[in-house]
Amino acid sequence: MLGNIRNFAIIAHVDHGKSTLADRLLELTGILKGTHDNQFLDRNPISRERGITIKLAPVRMSYEVSGPVGDFLPASARSSNVELRAVGSPSISTTRNSQNYILNLIDTPGHVDFSYEVDRTLSCVEGVVLLVDATRGIQAQTVSNAYKAIDKNLIIIPVVNKIDLPSAEVEKTKKSMVDFLGVSKNEIFEISAKSGDGVKELLETIITKIPPPTFHLSNLPIPSTSALIFDSYYDSHKGVIAFVRIFSGSIKKGQILKIGFAGENFIVNDVGIFDPELVSKDILDEGEIGYVVTNLKDIHKVRVGDSLLDIKSQKPLPGYKKVRPMVFASVFTVDPNDYINLKKALEKLYLNDSALEFSPIYSKALGAGFRVGFLGLLHADVVRERLEREYDLDLVLTPPQVEYEVRDGKYFEPIAKIFILTPSEYMSDIMKLCMDHRARFVTMDNISQVSLSYEVPLSELISDFFSELKSISAGFASLDWEFLKYEMVDADKLEILLNEEPIDEFSEIVAKDRSLDKARDLVVKLKGFIPKQQYEVKIQAKYKGKIIASERIPPFRKDVTAKLYGGDRTRKDKLLSKQKKGKKKMKMVGRVEIPKDAFFKLFKR
Ligand code: GTP
Repeated sequence: MLGNIRNFAIIAHVDHGKSTLADRLLELTGILKGTHDNQFLDRNPISRERGITIKLAPVRMSYEVSGPVGDFLPASARSSNVELRAVGSPSISTTRNSQNYILNLIDTPGHVDFSYEVDRTLSCVEGVVLLVDATRGIQAQTVSNAYKAIDKNLIIIPVVNKIDLPSAEVEKTKKSMVDFLGVSKNEIFEISAKSGDGVKELLETIITKIPPPTFHLSNLPIPSTSALIFDSYYDSHKGVIAFVRIFSGSIKKGQILKIGFAGENFIVNDVGIFDPELVSKDILDEGEIGYVVTNLKDIHKVRVGDSLLDIKSQKPLPGYKKVRPMVFASVFTVDPNDYINLKKALEKLYLNDSALEFSPIYSKALGAGFRVGFLGLLHADVVRERLEREYDLDLVLTPPQVEYEVRDGKYFEPIAKIFILTPSEYMSDIMKLCMDHRARFVTMDNISQVSLSYEVPLSELISDFFSELKSISAGFASLDWEFLKYEMVDADKLEILLNEEPIDEFSEIVAKDRSLDKARDLVVKLKGFIPKQQYEVKIQAKYKGKIIASERIPPFRKDVTAKLYGGDRTRKDKLLSKQKKGKKKMKMVGRVEIPKDAFFKLFKR
């Protein structure tokens, strides 16, 4: 049984076609029949609307194969006896008879904000399909995801996708993959995930090239149970459902298990597989990927990265690297009575999203809320949208900021290591962009594209860096980043005052080099977002004890019912009630009324 399991993932840069390839694999294996939604595994409505995968998605397929081994290699590779593996991975036999195989696929997100999902996925599989869009070539997340697979010693099957497009540069893309991965050209598959060309050959190569699960923990007596939790969610009827990869032993209904780091015992209520819907099974065996219904109500006890263990086992499996939120925003509800609902919603989201961090805060202007940590701006936007849609909350978010450390009265700011891949014609503009964003040059390489490394303050990255990079490179440059270190910086709090009153929600720590630009930007934007009031509104920015920018909004008087003649009560009431509704969208900040939109507009800078 174990020998017939293949656990694999599809990794790529964003939009290179992972979910489309997953659709073709699901069709070939009979999971999807007839007409169905495109990118079937992206079932979250926000994923669908934005056309991006924001969540890993596991699915189990089965596939019958027969015939001699060489049948499934790309035609060009059949004679070359190639080994497509990351350096140091164990050798496997590719000999097999006609058999049925269980294929556990985990589709991964491509956007850099969700790269921790790729980390979690790669801990559960033996191999990956590395997909490169032939119209785009290798991009930043192609490189970073490939390195992750190489680090984990996984088998890598290199694939060029979108060969059906007239703008596909198949040979050029293959050449850059040869240079980057050190594979030979004839090992690289050419497919169209859209039309399905080459996908059957690829599927069968996944079976021949990716080894079955072989991992045993040498320090655990077999069949002691150990399974890694790679995802989980809360179901109001069944409690917490953990997605697991079984590394040793098995899990079945009624078994008592321990959650490694949490130290909590529970009785397994149900186990099963991803069809991709949850389908109950008698037992989950070694090497399998499936779900475990814990019936636990406390979502914090089933942490992603923790293990499910036999109750006698002492040691949890090595967990995943703890993800660290990088940008922070304060979140409030427009209706103060929704505070408890926001708390519950965040707790539930937290279980599906181990990157999310939150702690209660209180703001004089906006009331009780939470300071929430996100991985990046897209993550923040997606979480906000989920909270509003899935939990029906009306929210106010303050602009996202990075977190400074203060030691002995000195500020230290987070620095990111960034890696940019770009066609050479955009290089000089990109270098200028980096300089304008206080970035420090590290290295440059020029193989088939230019790769640039910089150290850049994270506060610069979360400004308009990404959009500027995209626009100056006509969308061709791509970027990957990770947190590097904290570094001392000349910085202070930039305070925003509305009619002399400091407004914490708009104030933030800012590097001195940026203080003037930021101050002007904020006061001008706020002037545009705040409607005229019945008195003058003075907007000022104060930095290191001095007012460095200011604007004023002149007073405005308006009697909304003045235009209504006669005694038409209904019209008058309608207008007043409309105005009242409008007011619900307003927040009193100090003595000034600010529309909720002002916060969002600042948030979306
Ligand atoms: P993320 O999950 O957001 O990273 O994207 P993805 O890698 O899953 O890409 P997805 O499958 O969503 O495809 C992105 C776009 O490329 C979609 O519009 C697909 O229809 C299109 N696409 C994918 N594969 C092919 C292909 O082989 N040919 C053509 N012409 N279009 C393709």
